[in-house]
Amino acid sequence: MNFTLQESIAHCSNFLPASYPNRLIISPPAPYLAYLSSEFPEIEFSAQNVSHSDKEGPYTGEYSSYMLKSCNINYAIVGHSERRCNFFESDDMIRLKIANCLKSDVTPIICIGEDSKARRDATYENSLRMQLSNIIPENLPMKKIIIAYEPIWAIGTNIIPSCNELLDAFSIIACYLRKSEVANNVSLLYGGSVGEDNINEIFSVPNIDGVLVGKSSLRYETMIEMLNLRFA
Ligand code: PGA
Repeated sequence: MNFTLQESIAHCSNFLPASYPNRLIISPPAPYLAYLSSEFPEIEFSAQNVSHSDKEGPYTGEYSSYMLKSCNINYAIVGHSERRCNFFESDDMIRLKIANCLKSDVTPIICIGEDSKARRDATYENSLRMQLSNIIPENLPMKKIIIAYEPIWAIGTNIIPSCNELLDAFSIIACYLRKSEVANNVSLLYGGSVGEDNINEIFSVPNIDGVLVGKSSLRYETMIEMLNLRFA
């Protein structure tokens, strides 16, 4: 929950004319999505959430993946830890959201990650595998999905995992995906306190294809610096 519509328009304008095709997806609050996607056809946008239901009907306050698609929105973040903690989203709901996104050709950006207790108790491996097996639908259609590994203890804390911790977590995820034969259609992101100071270190870890940026994305200068560091 950041920015008014006017501030969002100004923010998006900063990324033109380059717009970083296939490299940048902006995820503004839901009320701005339709307007921004028609105002900035050069930029890819993502929703920050989507309904678990794909039916039209009495779901006040919700919006479906079909509705997103009708506004030219091709991505939706699903299962962010803030949705799980503050809005009580269960793994079952998240699995339905992913399935519905895939039905309407919206690529889900699926968030997983352990809390600080699981990290301390060294049960994070189990926690990651459990989350993956609970939320990735069986018989996943051969469509693209994006998985964002976001350890809850790293979100908004300015603490990021060490390279070894990242290496370990991403090999656990990559290994799980290989076994379930969806690996070719998956991109893996890291999220949690990403900034210009640590982006190169994060990208030095094998299996990391991209990053999900929270607070640092609110300053366009920081975003441009990170994009230039990676892609200039
Ligand atoms: P952060 O947020 O980059 O501010 O830690 C990440 C997120 O909310 O997913």
